[in-house]
Amino acid sequence: MTIHIGAEAGQIAETVLLPGDPLRAEWAAHNFLDNPVCVNRVRGMFGFTGTWNGHPVTIHGSGMGMPSLSIYANELIRDYGAKTLVRIGSCGAMQPAVGLRDVILGMTASSLSTPSRGIFRELNFAPCADFDLLQKAVVAARSIGATYHVGGLYSADVFYDERPDLNDIMTRHGILGVEMEAAELYNLAARHGVRALAVLTVSDHLLTHEALSAQDRQSSFGDMVRIALEASFS
Ligand code: ADE
Repeated sequence: MTIHIGAEAGQIAETVLLPGDPLRAEWAAHNFLDNPVCVNRVRGMFGFTGTWNGHPVTIHGSGMGMPSLSIYANELIRDYGAKTLVRIGSCGAMQPAVGLRDVILGMTASSLSTPSRGIFRELNFAPCADFDLLQKAVVAARSIGATYHVGGLYSADVFYDERPDLNDIMTRHGILGVEMEAAELYNLAARHGVRALAVLTVSDHLLTHEALSAQDRQSSFGDMVRIALEASFS
């Protein structure tokens, strides 16, 4: 057990999918894993372990924002030995060519700051996805017929941003989507020598102001789980 995860030693798999929402973790575990067992419910941040095609998998909520994700990813990696961490979640599109429901595979994640700023200080570290996982996610996305894009993410600290100029700058630099967790996941993966990737679905569009309904969010979530699982084990 750790401060934030109640699982016993051996109850967390080496491959962990990380949705922000713990209820999404429960939904994904019951819809994609065989014999899912709830291994964490501390603070309502559910984690489930089961198998997919015979491979052990944990699906665990990360919460929203990098400080929350940092707590769970640190404990999963350092205390439970997680080796492959795939964030599955939503993002806001920042390019006209990216549409609602499209999948974005985050090659890099830019940010104003991350919880790792304290150690990087003046250094502009470039958080990036694991190349092998990314390649395999491309193959998986293609095989299920998803409309996908590979490129940069912007990991923001705030959802309600009082500085829209930052979003414009990101758009001008080709960033595909804004979310709130990937940069720190990639920082932690680099620090601990493990694999990480963010597989995201576009839930809203910053340029057109369209947004998915709750029903559409649920159905597009399944594609991300499939891509994350295929990429992790192919
Ligand atoms: N996640 C989904 N949409 C988002 C947005 N517009 N900003 C930040 N995170 C998001």
